[in-house]
Amino acid sequence: MQIDGTFRGKDVQLVELTQDHPGFNDKAYRTRRDEIAGYAASYTAGAPIEDVAYNADEQSVWHAVWDKLAPLHEQYACEAYLRAAEAFGFAHDHIPGFAEINARLEPTQRFTLAPVAGLVRPETFLLQLGQHRFLATQYMRHGSEPLYTPEPDVVHEYIGHVALLASPQHAALNLAFGRATERATAAEVDALIRVYWYTIEFGVLQEADTIKVYGAGHLSSFGEIQRVREADLRPWSLATMAETSFDPTSYQAQLFVAPSYGQMQRDVLAWLETIGR
Ligand SMILES: [Fe+2]
Repeated sequence: MQIDGTFRGKDVQLVELTQDHPGFNDKAYRTRRDEIAGYAASYTAGAPIEDVAYNADEQSVWHAVWDKLAPLHEQYACEAYLRAAEAFGFAHDHIPGFAEINARLEPTQRFTLAPVAGLVRPETFLLQLGQHRFLATQYMRHGSEPLYTPEPDVVHEYIGHVALLASPQHAALNLAFGRATERATAAEVDALIRVYWYTIEFGVLQEADTIKVYGAGHLSSFGEIQRVREADLRPWSLATMAETSFDPTSYQAQLFVAPSYGQMQRDVLAWLETIGR
């Protein structure tokens, strides 16, 4: 499969705001999003990243999100995430730029964030993980609904993904997804996309006598994190996960409960080793 460092054309789909999007009628917001996405669209991997200078509105959304999400993390996030988040020490007082994040990720894990303008084809996203590259959006959700976004934004990327990406175990897992995708058949790519979805994006696990989250989708969503225990909580099975389709546009109907973070990591790494063999 071809792997290059540009993320445009068929690989990246710009998010067309629909009428129910919180920013649909806000011209200034749409212009700002286009400006940030435009920068990402012209970016080539490996080039120095010019950080977005987030404005006061965007900064206030960041503060509002942290105010609400930090206590929910205490309640719902698994130990592995809480430890990783504490070690990473996210600044709550300003939105870091990608260069600031990468300066901290790269020396330890050799992962870097690379900006994309919108939704990336899942296979492209996974392949880039194998290059130690995590494709991520930079724009911010609309200020009228700081606790909601219908698509990934900088809050999802940072709060959901970055802290864990700074931990060696989680970085190794992301890398292994990328390497497996390079070897995969078309059918196996579909399985990889689903397993990534039900683990890295929406993974839950058993901790003591309760369900905790380690998935980026829950960690970055005020609404969904609080409903996690209302989903159909299914037994831990990578084979079932690999065959279970998902709906990215609504709360997840089913989730797969890992026995622990360590067991999840060991089982997923072993399963990834079987891909393309
Ligand atoms: Fe994500």
